[in-house]
Amino acid sequence: MLIRRAHTSGRPNHDDYDLHWLLADPGELEQIPGETGCLIHNGIAVYPSSPDREWDEDEHPGRRYVHYADGRPLAALRVTQYPATRRRPARSVVVWIWTEEDQRGKGLATALFARAKDDYPNLSVGSDRSPAGAGWVTRLEDLGLVPRTTW
Ligand SMILES: CC(C)(COP(=O)(O)OP(=O)(O)OC[C@H]1O[C@@H](n2cnc3c(N)ncnc32)[C@H](O)[C@@H]1OP(=O)(O)O)[C@@H](O)C(=O)NCCC(=O)NCCS
Repeated sequence: MLIRRAHTSGRPNHDDYDLHWLLADPGELEQIPGETGCLIHNGIAVYPSSPDREWDEDEHPGRRYVHYADGRPLAALRVTQYPATRRRPARSVVVWIWTEEDQRGKGLATALFARAKDDYPNLSVGSDRSPAGAGWVTRLEDLGLVPRTTW
């Protein structure tokens, strides 16, 4: 999972997994150019994006899913669509996922993944994972939402 911000040490550091910014309103994230969509008060909003240009791996089309309760964003997940290359077919990957600390363990991230999978049946989760992210993916595997990891 491409969840880490740029860092210079070559090793992950704890703050790299602070992804609270992923809860921003649609169109506000410099990490996701070209995002559209309308805020909602309750439920899961979908914010698609189609950047004009593809500078790097984060600037591909995709969708961000945000769960709201009474206007408060509680959890968010970003899917990026990567085009086919000579080596691999096109794929849709969860690159960022975040649930507010006081909302964890309630199934919000899993529900966002299940919602995104409706749009992307072969949805996978990136391989660069935090300890919590790795535990969460095991839960997805247990639920049959992703194939079991073989590496
Ligand atoms: C990973 C994260 C998105 C999970 O969000 P969530 O809404 O709490 O997830 P769900 O409620 O759907 O699933 C929770 C399950 O994930 C697993 N899990 C979550 N955190 C875990 C941890 N630290 N260690 C092991 N398993 C963990 C458990 O199976 C847990 O179920 P349980 O609460 O019954 O034990 C959330 O912990 C988070 O935002 N972490 C910080 C950002 C981050 O690390 N993102 C992932 C980068 S790869």
